This record gives sequence, structure tokens and C-alpha cells, in this order.
Amino acid sequence: MNGKNDKPSIWRRSRGWIRIAEDPTSLAELDKSCFKRAWRKESFSKLINHSWFRAWTWHGEANSKALAFLIIENHFDLFSILRIGVVPEQQRQGIGREMMDFLIQLARNEKIPKILLEVHEFNLSAQHLYFASGFRQIHRKKGYYQDPPGNALVLSKVVS
Ligand SMILES: CC(C)(COP(=O)(O)OP(=O)(O)OC[C@H]1O[C@@H](n2cnc3c(N)ncnc32)[C@H](O)[C@@H]1OP(=O)(O)O)[C@@H](O)C(=O)NCCC(=O)NCCS
Repeated sequence: MNGKNDKPSIWRRSRGWIRIAEDPTSLAELDKSCFKRAWRKESFSKLINHSWFRAWTWHGEANSKALAFLIIENHFDLFSILRIGVVPEQQRQGIGREMMDFLIQLARNEKIPKILLEVHEFNLSAQHLYFASGFRQIHRKKGYYQDPPGNALVLSKVVS
């Protein structure tokens, strides 16, 4: 518990722990490990100040190094996923799924009816995760990505 308003800042999950991310440096490092086109540390420092910004990191032990992260925009009636990444050595072990399940549960608890995201049409591992988590394609943005070039699939999940 964070003591200030009695809202939890860390959660025990079956494989590890999820905690609220507050450190832009740690997010930038994770981002660099997970994405070819990483965001700059300055971007995280700016983003973290927005009221809609929410982020979490995943840890094997409560106080061990972060191995995965999730960033969303939290709007009035919508969670929009900006970034999700698991460091390459830890992928395909259920961590991404654990973070998605966490977010869906959080949406349910906070009465957020919908989660949205965009994914590159060639990013099949991410698509596997999203479809396995109950997302459905609602739209396609033609030529949305440049590196590598490709369309964006817009996926949505109704939270019930
Ligand atoms: C996408 C990503 C977050 C998935 O995380 P992960 O921890 O490896 O995923 P999980 O092990 O929880 O797997 C979730 C599901 O996706 C499937 N999956 C994951 N990677 C896969 C792959 N490369 N090929 C096929 N299926 C895959 C799993 O089988 C699992 O399905 P199941 O729950 O039905 O068994 C991770 O691959 C990653 O960080 N990629 C780089 C960053 C990125 O592309 N982020 C998404 C941007 S939109």
C-alpha cells in the first residue's frame, strides 16, 4: 500500500508482481530492451506528468528488477494501450498475458467499459496475445507505420 490514499501500488500475481511505475529512467530502459524504435527518456519524463498517463512494471520478486512494462492512456470511459513489452529473454512465459489480465481486471474494477490498442499487422506475437485476451479487430489504418512499413490493426475489447 502507498499509505497516501490506501490504494494499492503493488499487486501479487501468479508468476510475479506488478507495481505502479513512477521512474521514467526505468521505463526508458525497458522500452529500449523491448522495441527497435524506442522512445527517448525525455519523452517518458514528459508523459509521466500527464493526468491520463498510467504505467506498471512486472517483477519476478517484489523488489527485483523490472522485466516487463505496460503503459496506457486512461480516459473517462476508455483505457488505450500505448506500450506493452516483455524483455526478450522473458518472452513466451506468460508475463504479457499476466499484464493484460491485470489491465482487464483493473478496467472491470474501475468500470471502464472498453480497452483499445493499435498493433502492426506484422507483429504476430503481440496479435496472439491480444486475440488470446479477447480483443477483436474493429478497424485498419492503412499505411500507418513506416518502419517497417505496414498497416495498423485497431483492436478493441469490451469489458464486461
Ligand atoms: C507481445 C509481447 C508483449 C508478448 O508478451 P509475452 O510475455 O511473450 O506473451 P505471453 O507469453 O504472455 O503469451 C501470450 C499469448 O500469446 C502467444 N504468443 C506470444 N508470443 C508468441 C509468438 N512469438 N508466436 C506465437 N504465439 C505467441 C502465447 O502462446 C500466448 O497464448 P496463450 O495465452 O493462448 O497460450 C512480447 O512478445 C513483446 O514484448 N514483444 C516486443 C514488444 C512488442 O511488440 N509489443 C507490442 C507492441 S503492439
